[in-house]
Amino acid sequence: MRDIRLFTDKASLSRAVARAFVERASESERFSVALTGGGTPRLLYEFLATEYHDRVPWERIHFFWSDERYLPLDHAESNTGMVREALLDHVDVPVENVHVPPVELADPEEAARRYEEELHRFFGSGEPRLGWVFLGLGEDGHVASLFPGSPSLEESNRWVMAVKDSPKPPPVRLTMTLPIINRAAGVHFLVAGATKAPALSSALEAPQDPARLPAQGVRPINGTLTWWLDEQAASKLNPSK
Ligand code: 6PG
Repeated sequence: MRDIRLFTDKASLSRAVARAFVERASESERFSVALTGGGTPRLLYEFLATEYHDRVPWERIHFFWSDERYLPLDHAESNTGMVREALLDHVDVPVENVHVPPVELADPEEAARRYEEELHRFFGSGEPRLGWVFLGLGEDGHVASLFPGSPSLEESNRWVMAVKDSPKPPPVRLTMTLPIINRAAGVHFLVAGATKAPALSSALEAPQDPARLPAQGVRPINGTLTWWLDEQAASKLNPSK
């Protein structure tokens, strides 16, 4: 059974996600979240920083990024920059809780290793069980920076990898891999807008082919998978499935 939550627009979707996130984060002593970039989650981040601000247990949440573009943090297209602007600059999060991908390092392979080490330090010897992973869905079916045909989709050990030839600019990125995404307690896709309708219907209803549709590779092993959609994105879904 697919867990789909459907909303009339991005604002009601974002508020519902904010409520669910706050509820879940409040149940844990230490709650880890992987944030996503892109345009869709920005409103959610703004709501968390404003309307929901007083309900979020900020000091207990650890922020990671499911992917980052290899750009200066003050670049308009930086995922970290966007999250800072929409959320983190407005709230009181202990600095040690914000785990920014080290894209300032000259070598992206080294940055991927360092970010993976940071995750290892965070989880200790245990499983890398992120509490909540946010993902967007690309129009080509990509998730995080796992693009169709990418060799990183085959990865079974690494938790973070460098991407050097992303078809979506910029070409160089860091991305979490399916092995860590699929070990999360909860994975949450945020998909809004009519341009996403074809990719969404393929991701959910086309025969399984994660090499072509990376979103299909997201299958939590022992966690939940929730699709937060607006009506436009969901307009091509088959209601009988
Ligand atoms: C990136 C983004 C990317 C994004 C999807 C959906 O670094 O390019 O993280 O993976 O999540 O492309 O983006 P939108 O929500 O903007 O459509």
